[in-house]
Amino acid sequence: MYVRPAAAATAAFLGLTLSVLGASASSAAPGPAGFTNPTVYAHRGASAYAPENTLDAIDLAMRLGFDWVENDVQRTKDGELVVVHDDTLARTTDVEQVFPARKPWRIADFTAAEIARLDAGSWFGEEYAGARVPTLREYLDRVQRNHQRLLLEIKKPELYPGIEEQTLQVLGEAGWLDDQHVSRRLVVQSFSADCVRIVHGLRPDIVTAFLGTPPVADLPRYAAFTDRINPWHTTISGDWVAAVHGLLGAHGKAMEVDTWIVDDEATARKVQDMGVDGIITNKPDVVREAVGGY
Ligand code: G3P
Ligand code: CA
Repeated sequence: MYVRPAAAATAAFLGLTLSVLGASASSAAPGPAGFTNPTVYAHRGASAYAPENTLDAIDLAMRLGFDWVENDVQRTKDGELVVVHDDTLARTTDVEQVFPARKPWRIADFTAAEIARLDAGSWFGEEYAGARVPTLREYLDRVQRNHQRLLLEIKKPELYPGIEEQTLQVLGEAGWLDDQHVSRRLVVQSFSADCVRIVHGLRPDIVTAFLGTPPVADLPRYAAFTDRINPWHTTISGDWVAAVHGLLGAHGKAMEVDTWIVDDEATARKVQDMGVDGIITNKPDVVREAVGGY
């Protein structure tokens, strides 16, 4: 793992984003195929090196020099939004030990207070013992404190009716829906086109992304309600990326492509050569080394 040089790290602590320092995707030097360097997103935080979707993972992303972090939002039995990827707690917490009779340990079957008791770090490494599943509000406050930016995924919205409106409510309460956040620091994405459409309808100013790889012929339908199409890297080609770029998205700008999950240098260079705008990765330091983005 490469930790950022002291001067750049200091800049991050001071809240000077690298875009201010002239290293944003739009101002970076052209990459190997003439494209600008893609933005690098720390997927579930720097999740190759710290337990995913915890505050430790976003703190580590910050220390590595990355201001964009990705997360996953779901809802508890008593209506709290929490940051977890799977729809059960089994893989990333000690829920099986704490609540052995509650199989299959679905998030939606546990209260926020119960989830707050769980250890979300020991499964990854003993040095992270005691890490907690953050509520969305706790997570937003930490991202804010770290001067980071957020690619927020609404996960499995079909399980949580109304989660789009609730997510926006929490974002608003945390101060994340003012002009500064909406214009520069927030993207909302989902694998559900309906979810993305709902978010766009409720807050048309928010930048949104659809997770998937629609056929080129279908792209104009997506352009009506979203700004980005974010595909799995194995599903794309340079022609497909160019087709997305050829359309104007919901905000009247060329649509963008942020691809996932790219954790090795060769693949990072390959998708950079396809012209992607962003790379979502568990190993942001590795991708930065390959493509030069932040
Ligand atoms: O941000 C893209 C990526 O997170 C989508 O896949 O399963 O990791 O949520 P997943
Ligand atoms: Ca995700």
